[in-house]
Amino acid sequence: MKQHVIGSQSFGRIGLGCMGMSWAYGPGGELDSNLAVLDRALELGVNHWDTADLYGQGENEKLLSHRVSQVRDQIFLATKFANVFDRTLTSHQDQVAASSPWIVDGTPEYIRKCIDLSLARLGVDHVDLYYQHRVDPLVPIEETVGALAELVQAGKIKHIGLSEPSADTIRRAHKVHPIAAVQSELSLWTQDYVHDVVPLTGELGITFVAYSPLGRGFLTGKYKSLEDFAADDWRRNNPRYAEEAFAANMAIVDQVQAVANRHQATTGQIALAWVLAQGQHVVTIPGTKRIPYLEENAAADSLVLSPTDLAELGSVQPPVGERYPETAMQYVNG
Ligand SMILES: NC(=O)c1ccc[n+]([C@@H]2O[C@H](COP(=O)([O-])OP(=O)(O)OC[C@H]3O[C@@H](n4cnc5c(N)ncnc54)[C@H](OP(=O)(O)O)[C@@H]3O)[C@@H](O)[C@H]2O)c1
Repeated sequence: MKQHVIGSQSFGRIGLGCMGMSWAYGPGGELDSNLAVLDRALELGVNHWDTADLYGQGENEKLLSHRVSQVRDQIFLATKFANVFDRTLTSHQDQVAASSPWIVDGTPEYIRKCIDLSLARLGVDHVDLYYQHRVDPLVPIEETVGALAELVQAGKIKHIGLSEPSADTIRRAHKVHPIAAVQSELSLWTQDYVHDVVPLTGELGITFVAYSPLGRGFLTGKYKSLEDFAADDWRRNNPRYAEEAFAANMAIVDQVQAVANRHQATTGQIALAWVLAQGQHVVTIPGTKRIPYLEENAAADSLVLSPTDLAELGSVQPPVGERYPETAMQYVNG
């Protein structure tokens, strides 16, 4: 696995998004089967593990604790705060409409509570990367990053990250303390940041961590209709998966398939190779709870796309539908 470096640590440029093991995409895996995926990931050099306090309301961090405590030095461990799931922890309650389904909190008080809870759930004394999961529109980014810098000083986190920030927010944040990583959605059907945040992070020496690189599974071509998803699968609420959009978006998979045929690869592997080709500073964290998918994804590391492939992939048909429902779109590019 080709390596990427942040600070004094190096790790595989294809990492593992752990969210789906506990949350969002239908039933999570059983404990033993999730741990087997983590073990195999380590064998393959997939040692950048991504979680968040939100995923399963702390359950995903607890799941990782079963392995991380044993192999701490071999893992580049990232978690996140800011999406409030326990309203007793936030003072933003009064500032956000009671009816709002979503509160984002970037206040120093909230951050200090969250990091201790995450460290306890993970069973570690520090994380390598701590992201603000969404930028809080009510708190200046300078204040949030100032509080995160104090956590670096205290040794609780090694590096600071931001998820879904705008280019302007990144510039302001980076003046307060070096931002090590920006984690935002980047894939063949979400090319939103290709012309601003991706080049900006490269210029500033910030790692761009591409999340949902497989379009939440769509780009693998495995899913044929909404019927393929469990009743509680989050993708049922995603506009790109809505019935008519789904059918129209299948044309994107067909376009990727044409390139995949030339490489004797899967469309998912081509999707990952395209993301990694966006810059030396770009890494990715495809999510899975299954060993065969993990192995297939890790093997994308050896794919090299030609300029012709990249041109063809860069101009796939734009997707039908936003990448999030409306309530969530307000917090991206923040
Ligand atoms: N910062 C943020 O706001 C944010 C938002 C979303 C996600 N993330 C992070 O990014 C990680 C990755 O994103 P994601 O999980 O949303 O989307 P993704 O990696 O694009 O896709 C994951 C989905 O694709 C399926 N899949 C994975 N490999 C496959 C393969 N080789 N063939 C067929 N299907 C395959 C998985 O199935 P199974 O579940 O059945 O294995 C899962 O349903 C997450 O785990 C999370 O850590 C961050």
